[in-house]
Amino acid sequence: MIKKAIIPAAGSGTRLGPFTDAIPKELLPVGDKAIIEHVVDAFGLTEVTEIAIVVSLRKHGLSDYLGSGKKFGMHFSYVVQEERLGLANAVLAGEHVMNNHQFAVVLGDNFFRPNDFLRDLIAFHEEEHADATIGVAKVDDVTRHGVIKAEGGNAVVDLIEKPKPEEAPSDLGAIGIYVFKPCIFDAIRETKPGYKGEFQLTDSLKILVKWGKKVVYKEIPGIHIDVGTVKDLVRANAYYLDNRDREKR
Ligand code: UTP
Repeated sequence: MIKKAIIPAAGSGTRLGPFTDAIPKELLPVGDKAIIEHVVDAFGLTEVTEIAIVVSLRKHGLSDYLGSGKKFGMHFSYVVQEERLGLANAVLAGEHVMNNHQFAVVLGDNFFRPNDFLRDLIAFHEEEHADATIGVAKVDDVTRHGVIKAEGGNAVVDLIEKPKPEEAPSDLGAIGIYVFKPCIFDAIRETKPGYKGEFQLTDSLKILVKWGKKVVYKEIPGIHIDVGTVKDLVRANAYYLDNRDREKR
């Protein structure tokens, strides 16, 4: 049973400036909740009860808003990523809270519907006895994602971070949801800075593949919006408001 998780939320959100000069991106609203609250709701449909939220020093707004986790029936701890050094580095900041257990990761600025995507991904990871499970979707723009190369069943044999369209091994891109065994931390420690000089989780996953670990993928149905720009924020809100009544039934 997977009871722990990490939500990376230490990015700078420059594409959503100037709002993000005052408000962390993950606290911008989608409907009547902050983006990250929708992520926490998805965890509420799983067995996860302990979440490490990775923040930067200037993002104390997140702990002011989310608090101890008690109101969500969970326990939150806040860990600091001192420099924005990439997603792999953000995940590593939560290692001590995961304390050698398996755990899930969902980016704090992503919006998914239906919200049970995570429950299904965790169940799949457990059935497969995988070392790492990557949530993917068919993406229109491979240049914004880590793209997987799959072989036979659901095995991942290679990954490329933000490939040129002509070099993409598939149109299946990682969409910020993962389930890991603790060996991912060893792979992150071996990871060298890659795309844009950042420690990319894609490169850590490639190391797991090289070590012969079981890395699998699962397609996530429904809609996924990576809320990076004002256009994405408007799109997520339009979707939420159009579908809210259906959700309440
Ligand atoms: P983004 O790639 O959208 O980066 O991060 P960003 O810094 O937030 O935004 P821009 O590019 O400046 O506009 C995706 C998610 O991963 C987290 C972010 O907080 C966001 O939730 N992240 C990213 C980290 O926690 N640490 C990092 O080093 C990078």
